[in-house]
Amino acid sequence: MELKFATSNPHKVSEANQVGRKYGIEFVQLEQDYPEIRDEDVRMVARAGAAYVFNIIREPVIVEDTGLFIEGLGGFPGSYSAFVFNKIENQGILRLMQGAGDRKAEFISAIGYCDIDGVQIFDGAVRGSIGTEITGTAGFGYDSIFIPDGHEKTFGENPKLKAEVSHRMKAFDKFCKFIAECWD
Ligand code: IMP
Repeated sequence: MELKFATSNPHKVSEANQVGRKYGIEFVQLEQDYPEIRDEDVRMVARAGAAYVFNIIREPVIVEDTGLFIEGLGGFPGSYSAFVFNKIENQGILRLMQGAGDRKAEFISAIGYCDIDGVQIFDGAVRGSIGTEITGTAGFGYDSIFIPDGHEKTFGENPKLKAEVSHRMKAFDKFCKFIAECWD
């Protein structure tokens, strides 16, 4: 079964399909823009995005919003992670972290699924820390500075680990279980 995934990021679709495959679900990228509302909760951003896209295409659809919440920076960049990455990238985050004692961080992913019955949210999180340098070239975004707890390498160095423990993998696992039951 196929389901549209509204995103401009093909990496997200490929990661979603690593999970979807196990459930017989194929996520198909839909290049449909939607406004990202200002809210500190990625779940609210995903909720608004999914409803917006559904109102245009009138077919079941998902969007997914991710935030990187860094404790030593008071949760920054959080739900503003895309804006911040576009402005200062990973080098900028490492500069901001100079002198910040607490390097603990969490990625949170929220999937918004919208169909005729409205929006439902499925989330996933992974805890870790921000490295002291940019390492690894796999993945995208903040992958090369994020080290998941219990490991020494960044997601950028270890994409196989990302596929096993990431925020997105957990959120898609919840979502795929739900949708596979609906389609049963
Ligand atoms: P969004 O979910 O597309 O709004 O992404 C927010 C920001 O976080 C963007 O700059 C992405 O590149 C980055 N990002 C999203 N997901 C991940 C991930 O799995 N790893 C690293 N960075 C990510």
